Amino acid sequence: MSIIEPAVEVDGEKLMQFVFRAVDEVGAALNAALVVMGDKLGLYRALAGARGLSSAELAERTGTSERYVREWLNAQAAGGFVSYDAASGCYSLPPEQAVALTDSDSPAYLPGFFQIALGSVIDSPKIMEKARSGVGFGWHEHVHDVHEGCERFFRPGYNAHLIVEWLPALDGVVEKLERGALVADIGCGHGASTILMAQAYANSTFAGFDYHDRSIETARGRAQEAEVAERVGFNIAPAAQYPGAGYDLVTMFDCLHDMGDPVGAAHHVLQTLRPDGTWMIVEPHAGDRVQDNLNPVGRAYYAFSTLLCTPASLSQEGGLALGAQAGETRIREVVQAGGFTHFRRVAETPFNLVFEARP
Ligand SMILES: C[S@@+](CC[C@H](N)C(=O)[O-])C[C@H]1O[C@@H](n2cnc3c(N)ncnc32)[C@H](O)[C@@H]1O
Repeated sequence: MSIIEPAVEVDGEKLMQFVFRAVDEVGAALNAALVVMGDKLGLYRALAGARGLSSAELAERTGTSERYVREWLNAQAAGGFVSYDAASGCYSLPPEQAVALTDSDSPAYLPGFFQIALGSVIDSPKIMEKARSGVGFGWHEHVHDVHEGCERFFRPGYNAHLIVEWLPALDGVVEKLERGALVADIGCGHGASTILMAQAYANSTFAGFDYHDRSIETARGRAQEAEVAERVGFNIAPAAQYPGAGYDLVTMFDCLHDMGDPVGAAHHVLQTLRPDGTWMIVEPHAGDRVQDNLNPVGRAYYAFSTLLCTPASLSQEGGLALGAQAGETRIREVVQAGGFTHFRRVAETPFNLVFEARP
């Protein structure tokens, strides 16, 4: 005998509200590709330097095809990224959009955020397969836009906060860095954080480690460009096995949750740190409970976590898969399981939590 479910009443108005919200979301999803296009083709930079341009003028200044550029401009105008003046037929970039889309020194700089989002979407069919099998997908397996987008997304925040807020919030660390300290930056990626610290503290020596060979190669190039290569070494090493000992400071920027065995990594940090040393852990901003993270930042981070962080951890031995929204309590448990006795939150921004751990 079959049981007939009572019909669920659907509110037509709410349904249409949701459909129209979804239209906006589809536009936004496609816009990730358009923002990366505008960034890579120099369209935003050309607009930022002009009062108002026609599509033909923008195409001419950027060496692109007018027909493509016109369509791109109209999509940008419909999304509020670009302003359109119907009387003149010209497009311009409002000053705030110009900062967010072209000023790589601003903490509001956005192209890297879109680039890592687009790279994640490009790789999503592979993640879909892994979601069936439960097998992981390593950070090194992603397209270049994920690696470069990551660097470009995080660097503005590190620029704004690392030297002036985060390091000074740690007990006694700035004094050591000024005198001359030995620092290891684990999971350093392209080395943005390592190089920033090296530029700020000329008496200290820095070692950046990452298991991803191509990231280390890029980091070495970045150190040369920044003229700090004699005090900054970049080498391939997994977090639980990096070389050296007697570090005054070990740092991990947005990578502990990506590791398969973060407790093993914590153990290794303890072994390589001086007894009076400090481990600084920067993690994505998150509350402990799901309901704390059901907001725009949590939404983006849960999405990145689905496509990048969780598969990365599952691809490694241990496969703990903390996820990008692990929260303070979970991070504390990992750090304490690694043998650290002191743990406290020292700083936060809308995107990051910063912790201090000591032996
Ligand atoms: C989200 S990225 C952050 C990169 C860099 N710290 C930054 O803030 O730009 C995570 C980094 O952790 C590295 N990683 C993941 N698991 C690792 C492990 N077990 N040992 C060393 N590095 C690891 C990845 O290769 C990647 O570069």
